[in-house]
Amino acid sequence: MTTILAIDQGTTGTTCLVVDAAGRVRGRGYRELAQSYPAPGLVEHDPLEILATVRAAAREAIAAAGAPPAAIGITNQRETVVLWERDTGRPMHPALVWQDRRTAARCAELASRAAFIGERTGLVVDPYFSATKLEWLLSRDDALRARAERGELAAGTIDTWLIWQLTGGRVHATEPTNASRTMLYDLERRAWSDELCALFGVPRGILPEVRPSLGDFGTAVPDVLGFAAPILGVAGDQQAALFGQGGWETGVAKNTYGTGAFLLRNCGGVRPAGGGGLLTTIACGPTGEPVYALEASIFIAGAAVQWLRDGLGILDSAGESEALARSVASTDGVYFVPALTGLGAPDWEPAARGTIVGLTRGTTRAHLARAALEAMAYATADVLDAMRAAAAGDGAVDGAPLRVDGGATTNEWLVQFQADVLGAVVERPAQVESTGMGAAGLAGIAAGIWPDAPAFLASRRFARFAPGEGRAAAQAGRAGWRRAVRAALAWARDDA
Ligand code: G3P
Repeated sequence: MTTILAIDQGTTGTTCLVVDAAGRVRGRGYRELAQSYPAPGLVEHDPLEILATVRAAAREAIAAAGAPPAAIGITNQRETVVLWERDTGRPMHPALVWQDRRTAARCAELASRAAFIGERTGLVVDPYFSATKLEWLLSRDDALRARAERGELAAGTIDTWLIWQLTGGRVHATEPTNASRTMLYDLERRAWSDELCALFGVPRGILPEVRPSLGDFGTAVPDVLGFAAPILGVAGDQQAALFGQGGWETGVAKNTYGTGAFLLRNCGGVRPAGGGGLLTTIACGPTGEPVYALEASIFIAGAAVQWLRDGLGILDSAGESEALARSVASTDGVYFVPALTGLGAPDWEPAARGTIVGLTRGTTRAHLARAALEAMAYATADVLDAMRAAAAGDGAVDGAPLRVDGGATTNEWLVQFQADVLGAVVERPAQVESTGMGAAGLAGIAAGIWPDAPAFLASRRFARFAPGEGRAAAQAGRAGWRRAVRAALAWARDDA
């Protein structure tokens, strides 16, 4: 039996799947990853712990499958950046996670360069992306910068860190979907931008080689995973999920509800105009080749429910949120804007903080749980509106079903509420781990397990959720939601 190991290194943990040629999951492994919040707005990961979670989750998945895989696909949390010593592989600092806001002041200073940066990279100026994080890491210490300039250090996003470690330090590489999230990559030339490297003080020599997403990333040595196999497919997690949902085709859109929610729409070979708080980014076409996509990045989705569980202690488990949401007829006017790490699309306000409005003495944890779930659906409706406006003229966004995936979509109340808010059909695949499946697809096509992308997903089945009787109430709630978002923005900007 020929199988692929898909490594999905996400923000809160690492999932590994061993997938066979029929698209069945033969083995699964998971390890949670510790989050470090050293001060408000700061979010760090230990790069060596990231590697340890990959090692343990992969070994667990392979043990369950009963045999080592023929090839490896990697997908990863994007933008998060690691700086390490080439000689030893030792990290120079904890990884700065995509949610980290420490460079907000630097981003505010860059306002006058926003048009230039947007034109080159398709991104908005925000601490989310890797460039100001890398600039921060190198600016802390003159000796470190000198070492970087002498070529003694290497940098990269999590794909690059894992490829380096899995290949025993032989390969320092990334691919276009991850590169397009760094704010150092020229979207049209498909190469690192010397102008942007100069702007952020990043020596070109510390950046990885950019290879095709579907192709050769070297061979994983047995030391880490216990077997040797080629790494043949790599993509950022949201682009992998898009690929896993059939989004190699132009016009297909998906929304993944994980830590955050990320809605991507494949726009094909022509760069879309963007705007409206949307990002233009690189996704994968049918053979992994770069195509353009529009992306709406909502920073907090499932993490809001986690915060109710871990921060407030009012839920025993994230799964309990479904029963709680069903137990009340509405939130009774409570709205929760979960801007716990600033606001991303469509408003982009790094200074925003989480905001709960509408509390009364009758408010219970059920209302708060329901408000956290409703927030995911309302935020998705906001960014779909922006996407509709950006795609005006091609007619393909209106009426097209939205494909959804990610852990939170096992919550059927949420998926139905999403269909009600949108007034459109929402399709959920039987296998909601589209991210890992996408990475398996890229590597498996490269390995020849599947002849092409349609063959890879031939067995895909969707459950359909059509708008139902809750539609009018759900849509009426959008006005209150936008009012709550405006309140969060006014607080952040001190212009209430
Ligand atoms: O851009 C950040 C994104 O890649 C993180 O995804 O699934 O770890 O929340 P996830």
